[in-house]
Amino acid sequence: MSTQQVICTGGSYDILIEGGALAAVGERVRSLECTHTLLIADAEVAETHAAVAADSLAAAGCSVAMHTLHAEEANKTMPAVESIWSAALSAGLDRSSCMVAVGGGLIGDVAGFAAASFLRGVDFVQVPTTLLSMVDASVGGKTGINVQLPSGELGKNLAGAFWQPRVVIADPITLSTLPLRERRCGLAEVIKHALIGDPDLLDVIEQNLDQILEAEPEVTTALIDRAVRVKIDIVQKDEREHGCRALLNLGHTFAHAIEPDADLGLKHGEAVSIGLMAAAALSERLGRLEGDWVPQLRALLEKAGLPVRLEAARLSEDLVARMRFDKKIQSGSHRLIIPIAPGQVEITDDVPEKALLEAWNAVIG
Ligand SMILES: NC(=O)c1ccc[n+]([C@@H]2O[C@H](COP(=O)([O-])OP(=O)(O)OC[C@H]3O[C@@H](n4cnc5c(N)ncnc54)[C@H](O)[C@@H]3O)[C@@H](O)[C@H]2O)c1
Ligand SMILES: [Zn+2]
Repeated sequence: MSTQQVICTGGSYDILIEGGALAAVGERVRSLECTHTLLIADAEVAETHAAVAADSLAAAGCSVAMHTLHAEEANKTMPAVESIWSAALSAGLDRSSCMVAVGGGLIGDVAGFAAASFLRGVDFVQVPTTLLSMVDASVGGKTGINVQLPSGELGKNLAGAFWQPRVVIADPITLSTLPLRERRCGLAEVIKHALIGDPDLLDVIEQNLDQILEAEPEVTTALIDRAVRVKIDIVQKDEREHGCRALLNLGHTFAHAIEPDADLGLKHGEAVSIGLMAAAALSERLGRLEGDWVPQLRALLEKAGLPVRLEAARLSEDLVARMRFDKKIQSGSHRLIIPIAPGQVEITDDVPEKALLEAWNAVIG
């Protein structure tokens, strides 16, 4: 078991990581002095993990109503938020009530935004059930939804709020039901965190890969514990993404250029995996790369069952054009995060397009 604390001005909170922690949800919520709760559950886990959390809330003396949502990006929009508000009103929630999200990052983002805005803000508890949400999405207080762009496409996470959870309760046993492909995707973000701030974690992953992919509870608990520390460290320094929090976007500006391409069929973590390789290639092109660690990174990603190249033919020019629309571009110039060495990453402004084209070419085909 591990308990870590996030200290920030928007409210400090504990992160509890423990096999079986679902059963402690009621007790933890009760200690917040909340009696009315709305549990917002990912439909995929509503009858399993969310039901355990609901029983725990009831046993602790909380009234609990459950509202389920399907975890699809197309659903991560305003109607889902309104459905949560309506369910909260039906359940009689007031300003001293609490919303509890049980699911992956998608449910956490929507439920968090609903909690931030319902009656101008009610307590919010995160119970992440994917590896990605345990090490990343549930921590740091970013909530949000997708918004339709004038083009008709969905703009990701364009509306939202910073709203810190009162507590995060991660039960690694819930990962036993998570599809293997989703576990691999979560691992891509863990590897990203290792590159940002915990280089030795790469060896830990390498040595325990099979158990990690099988979601063996003890090994997974230790993994989450270390990976989440990297995120905590960064969000504590930069609560509202004015500075170093951008480091968490390592590999993501590249990933965002290929993720919406439906023909590629890449999940977010898979796009991030390719993005990490492209960021390393960019670092090399810019003469910033130190040491000979990239082949090891590539081998680890491949062993984890993640893609390291873009198999389909794509023009690097088109991909760079897509990057121009990424919101991380500051005033028309390309700002990217590059790895120098494991545990050492930096924000680089004014990246020349030629270097970006070369970085893409290094991972195409
Ligand atoms: N707020 C943040 O800081 C932050 C950071 C990163 C990502 N995000 C957001 O998080 C979302 C991605 O999160 P995710 O990767 O957790 O994906 P997700 O929430 O879409 O879940 C992935 C899939 O796993 C299913 N699932 C969840 N838990 C399960 C379990 N225990 N067993 C079986 N199936 C389960 C879901 O139904 C879904 O089909 C995106 O919307 C992204 O924008 C937010
Ligand atoms: Zn990500």
